Amino acid sequence: MPYYRSVGEVPRKRHTQFRQPDGSLYAEELMGQEGFSSDSSLLYHRYLPTAIVAADEYTPPAWSRTPNLPLKPRHLRTHKLDGAGADPILGRQHLLANDDVRISYVVADRPSPLYRNAVGDECLYVESGAARIESAFGVLGVTAGDYVVIPTSVVYRIVPVAPDPLRLLAIEASGHIGPPKRYLSVRGQFLEHSPYCERDVRGPEAPLLVEETDVEVYVQHRRGWTRHVYANHPFDVVGWDGHLYPWAFSIHDFEPITGRVHQPPPVHQTFQGPNFVICSFVPRKVDYHPLAIPVPYNHHNVDSDEMLFYTGGNYEARRGSGIEQGSISLHPAGFTHGPQPGAPERAIGAESFDELAVMVDTFRPLDLCAPALSCEDTGYAWTWAGRTRTSG
Ligand SMILES: [Fe+2]
Repeated sequence: MPYYRSVGEVPRKRHTQFRQPDGSLYAEELMGQEGFSSDSSLLYHRYLPTAIVAADEYTPPAWSRTPNLPLKPRHLRTHKLDGAGADPILGRQHLLANDDVRISYVVADRPSPLYRNAVGDECLYVESGAARIESAFGVLGVTAGDYVVIPTSVVYRIVPVAPDPLRLLAIEASGHIGPPKRYLSVRGQFLEHSPYCERDVRGPEAPLLVEETDVEVYVQHRRGWTRHVYANHPFDVVGWDGHLYPWAFSIHDFEPITGRVHQPPPVHQTFQGPNFVICSFVPRKVDYHPLAIPVPYNHHNVDSDEMLFYTGGNYEARRGSGIEQGSISLHPAGFTHGPQPGAPERAIGAESFDELAVMVDTFRPLDLCAPALSCEDTGYAWTWAGRTRTSG
């Protein structure tokens, strides 16, 4: 997590008596990672965070994975998935997945139920709209361009607040997501060469106290889904402190690293997860060597599948390929990819690119899910050759 934070009331010493106005003890909850050997937060509840009154198995919307066969670069038009309204958690449509990460897309127009992802951290990217992320830690307001990291097992809900629908790209990990280690000091401070730092990170600022009884929480865990009913609302925390909490960071605060010749994708890295990285491509001055070719060279990152979500501006290297706002390209390991024909010549002399994209590079192959196939532009694989082919 980015850094220590303290919100609301906490006693001077941890694990000591801290009493409510009626004289009873607040209930402590220590939430920590890696068996008490990594980051944690200590929360003070009005009611017992252990008090459940019901537990029922829950069957989530069905989804499945199919290998990328035949192996092809893919182009998914996520805006073709727009349909009836959905909530931003249970309405997620899975697109790409492996055992390390699941990537989904949702257009949401209503609040989600309370939800706990006990499988791993989530990184949500807001393509458009705005929302309140509510949790026991407080409220986090998010808007277009924000990344939000929700640590494993935080109970939260998403409440869209804008008149426009909330469009989210959800990246769900099977482990923890955080800033790249190379940008952090041994004590966790962002270093000078990091493209973002503590001042760019936002967290909850005040307790969110909700009084309610018999509250449902949908729990996704490693063996399935369960619906718990808590005796009291989990958002009953008067104060907390620690390094573990939902936090947000705007892609517009990512400071691009540029050079005289083309810089490789690691300069865009924003987060790391288990067996994947997340990168941000933002508007920037481009390569300024007198003979520079500003678009990428053809490349083959032989250990990664590369997913790119196009979320704003014009992506110069993909011009002529049908890529549009909300498009996702998948360039898998086993296939060399590069700019569309003509893009290198066209880009020569350009001084800046106005592009906004989120990339997820996975170190194991991504499978395709049914919604991905339903919005696929099947001609994409042949666009470099300039021929049309619709089968295979
Ligand atoms: Fe690439």
